[in-house]
Amino acid sequence: MPRTSQRTSVFTESLIREMTRVAQRHGAINLSQGFPDFDPPPELVQAGKDAMDAGRHQYAITWGAPELRRALAAKIGRFTGVPVDEASELVVTCGATEAMIVAMMTVCDPGDRVGLFCPFYENYSADAILCGATPVLVPLHPPGYGFDRDELRRAFASGLKAFVLCNPSNPCGRVFTPAELGHIASLAEEYDVWVLTDEVYEHIVFPPHRHTYFSSLPGMAARTLMCSSLSKTFSITGWRLGYVCASADVIAQARKVHDFLTVGAPAPLQHAVVTALGLPDGYYAALAEKYARSRDILLGYLDQTGLAYIRPEGAYFVMVDISPFGYASDIEFSHWMAREIGVAPVPGSSFFAPGENRYIRLNFAKRPETLHAAGERLLRLRA
Ligand SMILES: Cc1ncc(COP(=O)(O)O)c(C=O)c1O
Repeated sequence: MPRTSQRTSVFTESLIREMTRVAQRHGAINLSQGFPDFDPPPELVQAGKDAMDAGRHQYAITWGAPELRRALAAKIGRFTGVPVDEASELVVTCGATEAMIVAMMTVCDPGDRVGLFCPFYENYSADAILCGATPVLVPLHPPGYGFDRDELRRAFASGLKAFVLCNPSNPCGRVFTPAELGHIASLAEEYDVWVLTDEVYEHIVFPPHRHTYFSSLPGMAARTLMCSSLSKTFSITGWRLGYVCASADVIAQARKVHDFLTVGAPAPLQHAVVTALGLPDGYYAALAEKYARSRDILLGYLDQTGLAYIRPEGAYFVMVDISPFGYASDIEFSHWMAREIGVAPVPGSSFFAPGENRYIRLNFAKRPETLHAAGERLLRLRA
């Protein structure tokens, strides 16, 4: 038989999604893949049923149902302060997952270089490889996960076509400050680089930190392809709804990529989620407060284990240092932990270039009772 493509042979299956299967195999509490174990707002579930009853079963307009784009444009404009034209500046996608690869394919050609902070959400390097582009990693340095300005400049100067900015960041929980973002913006301007933002955790930010939308920085709206999702904000990771928001010229290209990749996001759910976008702003504040409480429950147990971790400023993950256990492989450790401790993490190496085996990532998008049950099990790591 002929060989399968070289391109698809150079990355592995997602370690994150694999750990969900490992958790199921061992009956472990799943703190690996980032999804909630609670339901979305009840009015949203009802809206889903209503959309089905109303016969919304066929393809929506490929770049998004008009009602949804109208609601999204209003919501994005309200939060970013940058007006969005629903007709020309948005494409609705199957989650931020599709949004990111659409954005990258829209601006990158084979041979281009794409900058990423490291640790990074594992999809980005696979996205770059699928585009025929080369990922260029720029380290974020623990314990604060800040970047070194010279290292970042060197990456930009190496000839980047695009820079991926995950903010708030998965896995390390950074919420970049306006000063840091301003620095990235000045390099993007100087070296004429596109910025692809992944802002799926825009509403999960813990005080005193505040989310700054990159597109809201002076001059940046025109060079930003803002990707986000309804998965995390409305606890509907299985609905597969996200979007790219960018200037009309860019979106005209992105729509074609999206159309040929997936045609469209699920039609009935596009209609249903309009209800969620109509929730008052208090919804978003309550979401952040709920996640702050979840974070504190999990960190309370981690404190008792004595393991070192990086306190998240946003998103719903915490990176824990497992070096005291002396495992050469964090993957082996993660499987052991799922089997013997009964809690499934993600091996940290999923987020780094090969050779980093020091971390696991735990997610706290769970009900308090799940976090307490997991926490009690985690206490066994003290020994
Ligand atoms: C940073 C980041 N981007 C994108 C996604 C995927 O989002 P979606 O469900 O909208 O595809 C995730 C999911 O964990 C994520 O953490």
